[in-house]
Amino acid sequence: MKIILSGYMGSGKTAVGTLLAKKMSFRFLDLDHEISRREGRSISEIFKSSGEIYFRRKETEILKDLLNSPEDFVLALGGGTPCYGKNVELLKQDPGSTLIYLKASLMELKERLFKERDKRPLIAHLDSPEALEDFIRKHLFERTFYYNQSDQIIGTDGKTAEAVAEE
Ligand code: S3P
Repeated sequence: MKIILSGYMGSGKTAVGTLLAKKMSFRFLDLDHEISRREGRSISEIFKSSGEIYFRRKETEILKDLLNSPEDFVLALGGGTPCYGKNVELLKQDPGSTLIYLKASLMELKERLFKERDKRPLIAHLDSPEALEDFIRKHLFERTFYYNQSDQIIGTDGKTAEAVAEE
């Protein structure tokens, strides 16, 4: 069994995934960490030197690899993973996987992401909370269609990672 967490940047995929994996005695995997480990450089460095298209290609390649493994695990996707190529179909069609969308509101995402935007190449250049809010609003509008195709949707606003993992 594979539990796959999807959701926008800052929705808590890594924090919730770590706790959930512990509860279920499954291994925890983070797709960004896996990409970074296999490439031997950070996500920011990949975007900077090789570009987003290269990153998306690696993201799909490594996702397919992980889905093909026989192991049980909890996997945190990157915020964009289900929204590119045929990734959402791949995730939905995988018989051993349950796809869960961690849904956070625009305001909560803005609060969480403003402090943490440096390590995220898509938003690192946004230097005011207003610019970030605008960016997230447009991005969520485009991405929600993909996130909503998950098997389950869990709202995360006002909840601790522990409470979301329990749910
Ligand atoms: C991205 C989200 C990031 C990372 C990359 C692109 C996105 O992951 O994969 O910076 O397109 O939303 P997190 O959601 O873990 O920040």
